[in-house]
Amino acid sequence: MSTGPRFPHPWDELPWFGTLADAVARAAGLDLRAYKESAVVRRVRARAKALGDEDAEAYARRVAHDPAEARRFARSLSVAVSGFFRDPAVFEALGRLLPEMAAQREGPRGLRLWSVGCSKGQEAYSLAATMLQARPEPPPFRVLGTDRDERALARAREGVYGDRDVEGLPTDLRARVLERAGAGRWRVRAEVRGRVEFRTADLLDPASYPERVDLISCRNVLIYLRRPVQVWVLEHLASALAPGGALVLGTSETLLGLRPELFVPWDARLRIYRKRG
Ligand SMILES: C[S@@+](CC[C@H](N)C(=O)[O-])C[C@H]1O[C@@H](n2cnc3c(N)ncnc32)[C@H](O)[C@@H]1O
Repeated sequence: MSTGPRFPHPWDELPWFGTLADAVARAAGLDLRAYKESAVVRRVRARAKALGDEDAEAYARRVAHDPAEARRFARSLSVAVSGFFRDPAVFEALGRLLPEMAAQREGPRGLRLWSVGCSKGQEAYSLAATMLQARPEPPPFRVLGTDRDERALARAREGVYGDRDVEGLPTDLRARVLERAGAGRWRVRAEVRGRVEFRTADLLDPASYPERVDLISCRNVLIYLRRPVQVWVLEHLASALAPGGALVLGTSETLLGLRPELFVPWDARLRIYRKRG
């Protein structure tokens, strides 16, 4: 379970919400109070309907006695949708910024890049492939991909994808990261794979964060969380970044509510920021 604070929630007094939140925390280690109310309600309605439960109360009672359903509910709160080079302009920009950061570095430490909420690994592999494009030669670097979803991480480590996963991906980008692995299957190239590792970490548990990273790509994850929780997470992400490190958010995510002295925009349109200092 997250070591983060218990986020107070406007629905804390509603019996069904308390029952559901406690059951999900017990079975899945997920703090439901951190997630947006609209998403919780949508999922409760959908699951109650699918299972023939009369209302939220009945569904919460079911979840309290069914850990598998509690875990399924926890997983359903965020979708595992991702893609290679999602928002290609972001990777193009990082292909300029990261080698520049490496060149300014004194001492032998390579760049540490962290893909938060990496899902099935596409973002982590895309970051590694972007670094490997640096000329005259790639600076030393490692990529860490983390997620709270073990199933997604197992897929990420496997590094094998289907035709559907590469649909719409331009051929040159596809060739940077993948090679054919038989009919309808693609495998991450060995040199890309060798730069990436995956492990479990919960965004709501700063004790599980890596330290002194140079880039945090936290895209399309904050969007599921309530605003005060987003700000709390961003504060902790800032602490995990080395001075001058870069933070990348998803296109619909912002630093709203965060202390302005923490970051300066590097490319506000692409949601790329640098930590001050
Ligand atoms: C929509 S995917 C984003 C994938 C990738 N970052 C991208 O933009 O393509 C959201 C991911 O966030 C993960 N996630 C949701 N809540 C999380 C949490 N509290 N800690 C870590 N990962 C979380 C989900 O498991 C899911 O894999």
